[in-house]
Amino acid sequence: MSLLLTHAIINGQSQNLLIQDGLIAYSGKEFPNADQTIDMTGKHIIPGMIDPHTHIRDLGQTYKEDWTSASKAAIKGGVTTVFDMPNNRPPTVNLEYLNKKREVAKKSLVHYKFNIAATAENLDGLQEILSTNPDDVASLKLFLAGSNSNEFVNDKEIIKRIFEYSLQYDLPVMIHSEWQACVEKFSRKVKDPTVLDHHFIRNRECAAIGTEVVLKIAQSIGNAIYIAHTSVAEEIDLIRAYKDKVRVYCEVTPHHLLINELILNEVGNYGKVNPPLRTPKDNEALWQAIADGTVNTIGSDHAPHQLEEKNRPYLQAPSGFPGLETSLPLLLQEVKKGNLSVEKLVALTSTHTANIFGLEKVGAIAPGYRADLTVFDLRQSAVIRAQEFETKAKYSPFEGMEVVPIDQVFVSGRQVLT
Ligand code: DOR
Ligand code: ZN
Repeated sequence: MSLLLTHAIINGQSQNLLIQDGLIAYSGKEFPNADQTIDMTGKHIIPGMIDPHTHIRDLGQTYKEDWTSASKAAIKGGVTTVFDMPNNRPPTVNLEYLNKKREVAKKSLVHYKFNIAATAENLDGLQEILSTNPDDVASLKLFLAGSNSNEFVNDKEIIKRIFEYSLQYDLPVMIHSEWQACVEKFSRKVKDPTVLDHHFIRNRECAAIGTEVVLKIAQSIGNAIYIAHTSVAEEIDLIRAYKDKVRVYCEVTPHHLLINELILNEVGNYGKVNPPLRTPKDNEALWQAIADGTVNTIGSDHAPHQLEEKNRPYLQAPSGFPGLETSLPLLLQEVKKGNLSVEKLVALTSTHTANIFGLEKVGAIAPGYRADLTVFDLRQSAVIRAQEFETKAKYSPFEGMEVVPIDQVFVSGRQVLT
C-alpha cells in the first residue's frame, strides 16, 4: 500500500511525498506512482511532534486519563510520539511496575517511550530496569521537589549516584528543577495562600537553585542532563553559562512561553502548575533563549486532572493541566504571527528531541524515516474549547485563545486524523 501526498510545503518548498510500508519512501518534485493520492496544495507537512513530557495516568488513575484518551488527544494535537512520566499510580520505580505500564500502553494509538523514576528509595529498582538495557526507556526522571508525588531528591550524594547510572547506561536524566527545601522555606512565608501566591511559594529562586545544583554535579560526572520546563530567566542564564562545560539540554513548555502569572486572576487553579507560570519578563527570556539556541526542545507537560479536582480551593487543587491538544496549535499560531519559523518549530518539537533521546529514523522528513507526519494549513484558524478536548481533563488556561488547528496526522503512514 502506497500513498502519495502531492504539492505540500515541506522544508519551505512545494514537494510530493511518497509513503510506503509506513515509511517515507520519497520526497521531492517527482510524482511517483502510488495506490492513493491526497492533494496537499497550500498545506505544510512536518514531522509529528515528539512530546517528551506527558503524564498519562493509566492503571491507578484512569479517571484522570488513560492511554486511549491521551493518545487520541495526542493525535488531535499533531503529536505522534509521547514519553510517559513515572509519577503515576503505581510509580514507575521498578521492573514490575514498568512491565504493568508496558501492558496497558499497548492501547496507545501513537508511538511511546517511558521516563522512569530515579528516587532515593528505588536505586535498586532503577538498576534492575537499566540492566535489561530497555529500548523503550527514554530517560531517568528526577524530581528535586515534590510535585504530584512525594518522591523527590535533595541529597546531593543520591543525585550523584543517579547521574552515574545515567552515564553508565547512556540515558539522560530529565530533571524537574525546583529545590524542595527552598519551596518549603517560601511556603512558610505565606499565610492562607491563594493561587496568586503560587509563583512566590514555588519561588523562582528554587528553580535556579535546583538547576545550579544539577549543572555542577553533571559537570563532575559527565552525564547528560535535560532540564524540563525551564521557567525563569536565571535558569536560562545558568544553562547558557554551563553549555560548553556540561552536556545540558533545555526544554520549555508552551505555557511558560506564552502565558504568565497575570492570567491567574482570570483562570484561577486551571493555571496552577509546577513550576508556576512566571512573569512577562520570563516569557521574553525564554523567547530569547529559543532565538539563540539555548532552548533545545518544547514539551507539553500534559498533566491531566479532573475538573472537579481543579475546582477545589488552591491548596487542595492539583497542579498541572492538559497540553497535548494545545501545544502545537498554539505554536503554529506563533508561526502565523511571524514569531517562530516552521524550521525552528520542527527542530524544537521533533528533530532535537529525537536526537537527544536517541530515537532513530524519526524527527525529520527524509527517505527511510518513519512516516509520522503532521499537516497544517496556516490559513485555518480555531479557538481553544476545552469542552471539545479528547483528553479527560476538560479545562485549560488557554481557553478561548486563537490557534492554528491540526489538519491531518499520519502515524507510521496510517492516516489517523483526516
Ligand atoms: O504541574 C505539574 N503537574 N507539575 C509536575 O511536575 C507534575 C504534574 C502532574 O503530574 O500532574
Ligand atoms: Zn511534568
